[in-house]
Amino acid sequence: MSLRISPSILSADFGHLVAECERVGTTADWIHVDVMDNHFVPNLTLGLPIVESLVGKISLPIDCHLMISDADRWAPGYAEAGADSVTFHVEAATNPLQVAKDIRAQGARAGMALKPGTSLDDYVDLLPHLDMILIMTVEPGFGGQSFMADQMSKVRKARELITAGDLDVWVQVDGGVSAATIQECADAGADTFVAGSAVYQSADPAKVVSTLRELADAATSTSWWCAH
Ligand code: DX5
Ligand code: ZN
Repeated sequence: MSLRISPSILSADFGHLVAECERVGTTADWIHVDVMDNHFVPNLTLGLPIVESLVGKISLPIDCHLMISDADRWAPGYAEAGADSVTFHVEAATNPLQVAKDIRAQGARAGMALKPGTSLDDYVDLLPHLDMILIMTVEPGFGGQSFMADQMSKVRKARELITAGDLDVWVQVDGGVSAATIQECADAGADTFVAGSAVYQSADPAKVVSTLRELADAATSTSWWCAH
C-alpha cells in the first residue's frame, strides 16, 4: 500500500516559500498549498500568481487545496497554471462534476473536499469522476486546530465505497494530523495525509514527515481496508 504525505505550507514562512518547500526535501510526496479567499473561509492566504510562480521551482508536485468561492470559475485555472492536483470544496461549487472534468481536462488530478458538516451521502455518484476525496478533519480556514475524530466515520465510508466500486480514488485527511492522530486516520481508510503545523512548527520538518509515514505505514499494515 503506498501512502502519501503532503505537508501544508500554511504554517511555513511565506517570505521564503521555495526554501520552505525544500525543507521537507523529497521525504514528502506532495506540497499542500492552501488557497483561501476570505470569503469561503474567514482567512486570506495566497492565490493563482503565487501558485504559478512555485510551479517548476520546487522538487515536489503541488497539491492545491482551494478554499474559495465559485470553484466552477476559478479551479481549472490552478490546473492550467501547473498544479498537479487541484481540490475544490463541494460546498463552493455549483456543478461539481463539471469542475472535476474541467480540472482533469487541464491535466491535473481532481480532488473534492468536504467540510466536517457535509455528508458524503449526496455525492457518492461523483466518486468515479474524482482522483481524490478530501475529508476535512477541522473546519477549513486555519492551521493548528484540534483534530476532529468524529470525521473518521466519513473516512471509513469513503474507503468502503471506493473498495466496493473498485475505484482508484485517494482518501485525504487535512487538519490536526500529527503523530498523535495519523494512525487513526490510516486505520479508518485514509491514504493521503496533510500535516501543517506538525511539520512546519518542528525544527526538523523532514524528520517529522518520515515519522508520520512510519506511523501511517504501521497502522495500514494491520488495518481492515488494506489487502495484506
Ligand atoms: C486548514 C488547511 C490545512 C492546514 C492544516 O484549513 O486546509 O491544510 O494547513 O494545518 P494543521 O495540520 O496545522 O491542522
Ligand atoms: Zn488544506
